[in-house]
Amino acid sequence: MENLKKKFKSRYGNNPILISAPGRINLIGEHTDYNQGLALPAAIGRRMTLAIAPSGSRRCRIFADGYGQAEFSLDELKPVPGWMGYVMGVAAGIVRQGLKIGGFDLMVESGIPVGAGLSSSAALCCGLCFGLSEIFGLKMHRKEMALVAQYAEHQFAGVRCGLMDQYASLFGKGGSALFLDFRDLDFKIVPLQLGERVIMLVNSGVSHELAGTAYNKRRESCELGVKLISERYPVQSLREVGLDMLDEFRPKAGEEVYKRCRYVVEEIERVKQAVVFLDEGDYRSFGELLYSTHRGLSEDYEVGCSETDFLVEAAAESGLVHGARMMGGGFGGCTLNILEGSNTDAFREIVQEKYLARFGKEPDFYQVAPAEGVFMML
Ligand code: GLA
Repeated sequence: MENLKKKFKSRYGNNPILISAPGRINLIGEHTDYNQGLALPAAIGRRMTLAIAPSGSRRCRIFADGYGQAEFSLDELKPVPGWMGYVMGVAAGIVRQGLKIGGFDLMVESGIPVGAGLSSSAALCCGLCFGLSEIFGLKMHRKEMALVAQYAEHQFAGVRCGLMDQYASLFGKGGSALFLDFRDLDFKIVPLQLGERVIMLVNSGVSHELAGTAYNKRRESCELGVKLISERYPVQSLREVGLDMLDEFRPKAGEEVYKRCRYVVEEIERVKQAVVFLDEGDYRSFGELLYSTHRGLSEDYEVGCSETDFLVEAAAESGLVHGARMMGGGFGGCTLNILEGSNTDAFREIVQEKYLARFGKEPDFYQVAPAEGVFMML
C-alpha cells in the first residue's frame, strides 16, 4: 500500500487515495443477468488496487505494471483498444450522468489475472468510478457506479454484458454470496456456510475473448427467442418463459435459438434450487447442479472449450469434488470446484498432472473465498 503511494508520488508528484476493487466468482446463474434472471456471485480476495488523484487539468495519465502508460484528455474520450478504453469509458459514463469531473492520474496494481473470467475489467471500472466519485465529491450511489461500469463495457469495449460482475464487485460481502434478481436489481446477502469446504478455481489458461462477437450473439439469440414468444404471450424476458412455451416455439425459432433459450430457462431454475441446497448445507445436491450448469453451457449455450470440459471431467473423475463447472462468460477462463479442504493437495496433483499430459501446460489454481466489495483503503 505504502509502496504504491510512493510510486504514485514519484511518478505524478501528488498524493493519491487508494481504492481496493475485487474480482468475482459466480456460484451459479450464468448468462442469466441479461435475461432478467437470477445469479449467485460473490466478490473474492483477488483484488486490484487503484491509486488516484486529480491532475489539476483536463489531462489524464494512467499507468499499470505490465500494461504500460497512456495519456489522454477528457475532451477526447472514445473507444480505444486495451485498458485505456475502459478508463475512458468510465469517465464518459460519469459525464453522461451530468456529473462533473476533472482530469486525473491513475496507477493500478492488480492481483486479478486477466482473461481468466474473474472480471478484472469490472474491478477496474467499478474501482475507478468509486475513486472518481470520491476525489471529485460526486457522492454517487453504488448502483449508479454499476451502471457507469456497464456503460463502459457496452459502449467502449463493445460487450453487451449484464450487471452481475459490477454488482458482485461493488456489493460483495465477506463470507457471503449475493442472491441477485435482475428483474429489479434487488439482492439478498446469503452467508455461505462452507464449513471445511473450499472453493477452488482452476485456470485453463485459455484467454476468453468476450469482446469477440460470441457473447453478443448469445444475447441476440435470447432476445430473438423472447421476440418470437412475445408475439403470442405477454413476455418481456426469458424470466417469464417456461419450457412448455419454448417447446411450442421450437419449430419457428430453430434449433440454435431454442437451445440457447432452454439453457437460460433451466439455469434460472437451478439458481432457485441452489439457494435452497446451500441453505440446507446439501453440497452433494448443489454439486449436481454445478455439473448440470456445465453441461448446459457446453452443449446448449455452446460457450465451452475442450480445456474447461477436460478440467470438469478430471475433477469429477478424481472423486474429490462435490461439483465443478466452467465459470463466467465462457470460451476459456476458470472452472469452479467445491471440495473438502483436506482434499485440496490431492486434487491439485491429480488435475495438474492430467492437464499437463493432455495440453502440455500446467493450469493455475486459486483457492478463493467470498470477500468485501469495493472500498477505500485508509
Ligand atoms: C460475463 C458478463 C456478465 C455475465 C457473465 C455470464 O462475465 O460480463 O454480465 O453475463 O459473463 O454469466
